[in-house]
Amino acid sequence: MVIDVNPNIAAIKPYTPGKPIEDVQREFGLSRVIKLASNENNMGLPASVQAELTTKIAELFLYPDGAVFKLRQALAKRHQLDESAFVFGNGSDELLLLIALAYLGPNKEALVSEGTFSEYAFSAHVVNAPIKTVPLKDYTYDLDAFAAAITPQTRVIFLCNPNNPTGTIFSSAALDSFIEKVPSNVLVVLDEAYFEFAVGSTTPDGSVYPDGRDFLRHYDNLIVLRTFSKMWSLAGCRIGYGMASPAIIEALNKARQPFNVNRYAQEAALLMLKQTSWETEIRSFVDAEKSRLMDGLVAIGLSPIKSSANFIFVEVNQPGSKLFDKLLQKGVIIRAMDGFGFPQAIRVTVGLPNENDAFITALKEVF
Ligand SMILES: Cc1ncc(COP(=O)(O)O)c(C=O)c1O
Repeated sequence: MVIDVNPNIAAIKPYTPGKPIEDVQREFGLSRVIKLASNENNMGLPASVQAELTTKIAELFLYPDGAVFKLRQALAKRHQLDESAFVFGNGSDELLLLIALAYLGPNKEALVSEGTFSEYAFSAHVVNAPIKTVPLKDYTYDLDAFAAAITPQTRVIFLCNPNNPTGTIFSSAALDSFIEKVPSNVLVVLDEAYFEFAVGSTTPDGSVYPDGRDFLRHYDNLIVLRTFSKMWSLAGCRIGYGMASPAIIEALNKARQPFNVNRYAQEAALLMLKQTSWETEIRSFVDAEKSRLMDGLVAIGLSPIKSSANFIFVEVNQPGSKLFDKLLQKGVIIRAMDGFGFPQAIRVTVGLPNENDAFITALKEVF
């Protein structure tokens, strides 16, 4: 007998993650495989952090601190916010699900962009919420179209800045005028997973990249999401956080499991935050490598989109999945963008210099 699955769950198309290095090594008998598929920070962890973390292994028999006290304190200081303004998740992915559990459901609609991170729609599907999609404009979030799409059913609006996968940003002025128009009973989720790479960026028309935190003071219906998976090299630990007004934090805390952020992740995040020059060093490293990659793509005759994150999106005038396969055989894993709604595009993460060189060399060969 087959047990009935709830139809909204049965209809979910499973998330296709970046292909793991080990799989590719096995499939193609390759000893060296480069992964530029999931926007991790391939610089990894500083040796001092790794050494310190090994001393924490002995404590792993204990449950973690469910309130994430030490990290909460450190972040409150860093962001100049009250300690009560934070909620933590097993990656920011979990926070997206908690938001859906707390605020969405049948007849409680989510607004999401086309050509963006798939977990917004996924979270809405899990709770059987209707989803309305808003097209991108020039590969960028179209906040005017978002404002026009709001209906009395709308409960949560998901924004991604910089956008994954296009790397584009919307401006502070655009965000300001958009939030003004959102009714106060609608939650705006501002996903800033790539915030630290975008600081100081300007939009094509020269306006500034917003810092979501600045908007928290004025809007009670906003949650800003950040993660330790990208700039902070901790994708494998699974830890992210949200910053919002007390009512939102309380609702999400009610929906989460008591020990949702593991002990190791909490320790690792704290240690990474103590690396005072990390953020600026990585940002300038990524900027330099990104422009080298852009040059390499342009030299092949492609037109990559200006990115404010640690990845580049480029249309390749052929099925992205075919290019993905060809690069895979050469030991380079990137992402085909068909799953994001761009059948002729790829996204490549900015890796280490030798990895970026290997990608460009392989791309030249397959073109
Ligand atoms: C835009 C965006 N938001 C959230 C996430 C999830 O990050 P985390 O590892 O914190 O779950 C990702 C991961 O790729 C992402 O690209």
